[in-house]
Amino acid sequence: MLGLKLPTDPRWVNIVEQNIAEILTDHAFCEQKAASNAISLIVWYPELTDLVKEMTALVQEEMSHFSMVHGKIIQRGWQLGKERKDQYVNDLLKFIRTGSHKRNIVLVDRLLFSALIEARSCERFRLLSENIQDEELRIFYHELMVSEAGHYTTFIKLAKKYSEDMDTESRLKEWLEYESEIIKKYGVKETMHG
Ligand SMILES: [Fe+2]
Ligand SMILES: [Fe+2]
Repeated sequence: MLGLKLPTDPRWVNIVEQNIAEILTDHAFCEQKAASNAISLIVWYPELTDLVKEMTALVQEEMSHFSMVHGKIIQRGWQLGKERKDQYVNDLLKFIRTGSHKRNIVLVDRLLFSALIEARSCERFRLLSENIQDEELRIFYHELMVSEAGHYTTFIKLAKKYSEDMDTESRLKEWLEYESEIIKKYGVKETMHG
């Protein structure tokens, strides 16, 4: 799905179902972090008008997702818990080339990093939409899956737009290869990327 090389073991859904409160809290913060990441891109690249416009729209959409997940938490009589660590995202972050690299190289990596988080989240949402017992959550995750697939496309489009002399396709392949290595450790916890 969306170029990902390694599918998540569907048994991850069984783990998630044991603790819906946990997955919803973690998921809410995934949406908040997606919005924060888009805000950071605006702060780092204010001169890139198309990026600023796309990220402004994305921040609003991610925060509306946050609000929807928060609503599900409240509706079930719970409250939002503390932010959960996302080790998967921390592992992915290490692949971004920073330091002395040219500005466009770092930007493309930041965009591909964002695209892959969208892709993996989308894949996890699809699994939930197809396998979770809770009917309401099945519909909810189907809607979100469609939305996150659109975000993936936005990030890939921006990476190509601002790549200058960089070969975005071959860098995307490297990212997909790297992601397939790190994801092997995951699929065992009741968090969105756990
Ligand atoms: Fe989202
Ligand atoms: Fe997203």
